[in-house]
Amino acid sequence: MEKELTTLTAKPPAHDVTDLGLAELGAGRIEWAAREMPVLSQIRRRIAKEKPFAGLRIGACLHVTTETANLALALRDGGASVALCASNPLSTQDDAAAAIVARDGISVFARKGEDRDTYYKHIQAVLDTHPQITMDDGADVVTLLHTERRAQLPEVKGGTEETTTGVIRLRAMAAEGVLAYPIVAVNEARTKHMFDNQYGTGQSGIDGLLRATNILIAGKTAVVCGYGWVGRGVAVRLKGMGAIVIVCEVDPLRGLEAACDGYQVATVAEAAKRGDIFFTATGNLNVLGKDHFPLMKDGAILGNVGHFNDEIEIPALEKLASSKRTIRPFVEEYGVGGKSVFLLAEGRLLNHAAAEANPAAVMDMSFSNQVLAIEHILRSTLRPDVYSVRPEDDALVARLKLAAMGMKIDQMTEAQAQYARSWKAGT
Ligand SMILES: NC(=O)c1ccc[n+]([C@@H]2O[C@H](COP(=O)([O-])OP(=O)(O)OC[C@H]3O[C@@H](n4cnc5c(N)ncnc54)[C@H](O)[C@@H]3O)[C@@H](O)[C@H]2O)c1
Repeated sequence: MEKELTTLTAKPPAHDVTDLGLAELGAGRIEWAAREMPVLSQIRRRIAKEKPFAGLRIGACLHVTTETANLALALRDGGASVALCASNPLSTQDDAAAAIVARDGISVFARKGEDRDTYYKHIQAVLDTHPQITMDDGADVVTLLHTERRAQLPEVKGGTEETTTGVIRLRAMAAEGVLAYPIVAVNEARTKHMFDNQYGTGQSGIDGLLRATNILIAGKTAVVCGYGWVGRGVAVRLKGMGAIVIVCEVDPLRGLEAACDGYQVATVAEAAKRGDIFFTATGNLNVLGKDHFPLMKDGAILGNVGHFNDEIEIPALEKLASSKRTIRPFVEEYGVGGKSVFLLAEGRLLNHAAAEANPAAVMDMSFSNQVLAIEHILRSTLRPDVYSVRPEDDALVARLKLAAMGMKIDQMTEAQAQYARSWKAGT
């Protein structure tokens, strides 16, 4: 990777970040992340020559992290002008945001801890740049475009969506026939959800818990709500660190899978009484709710790694609580019926708020898929709908990643390929 540290642009572009003085710190961390992103670096070198995005305006609403900085650099080198805002009020890394503006000359509108109004003002600022491609992590840009800024819809060629929750919202829009432009569901690439959601959030969720609390996991009872990609990743790490893990599910197959993976499976109401630590990872609403808080043990710790901060029913917790105080950063103590329940990071994405989000090595694959998806949109004439990542792009990302890890796999022989295609061979 070419050296990029800290030549600050004389005249930074339009921005709203916490402190441009953090740029130097951010630049070092962005370069550090790039070391773990060899696939994106390779794609970046190619598109820097080919310029597939020449003249293209891209509006991105993603977690503003060091990894996203590397994505923005790739898009810029591919010829695009990029404007970036945060996809969560607590997920911005202020030093990365500063470096993207001051060193890389890319517009960023994001401050860690911004309130709801500022969060939406920042999305509007990105939309003011009239993006022709939107990049979402949770579908907030698409939603604003389809509600408040419909006049801009004809300008948009297409978009991408990074996460499970966003894809669910987009599919609902497509099913209602209201989606106005094609969107590639990057989350559906196997090289995205199998790695980013599972290994990435599985690790960074625990990292968020530990940085916020510094508790010992061994010997604790941990409850994981949702046994999808994220939930599986979190559960197996908790188990590996010595916790007794209880999984809560609504899908019988996922519940059965958890049971066969060696976990206890129980309803939330039952698990609420037994858990010391709770993780929500469902993409659903009020999974831990008003009926559950009073059942919890004194000292129960609640964290969320699902997309929105509504998996834990915070308004109900506020209503039930006789007291509330911040006991340490990212840890709020609620007094509930003479006991203490601790909520982490305001119920927002714990791995982003209290730790450093998903490791660069997995974002390498997610963001490579993002770039390939935009190239695909520009090359094709897709009607408005939600599209999967092309299997050949998914396979390319996996192949490049394996090669970057110094590992090789075999190729089928011609006889094996024929055998795999035929139906005639038997016993
Ligand atoms: N924190 C991060 O960095 C990060 C990364 C990737 C995905 N996400 C988010 O995490 C969430 C989960 O993503 P995923 O890819 O694992 O999705 P998934 O669809 O694979 O898994 C979700 C699971 O939750 C279960 N579920 C739904 N409602 C439930 C309920 N009331 N009680 C118990 N279980 C319930 C579903 O049956 C499913 O098995 C989404 O909101 C996604 O956007 C966060």
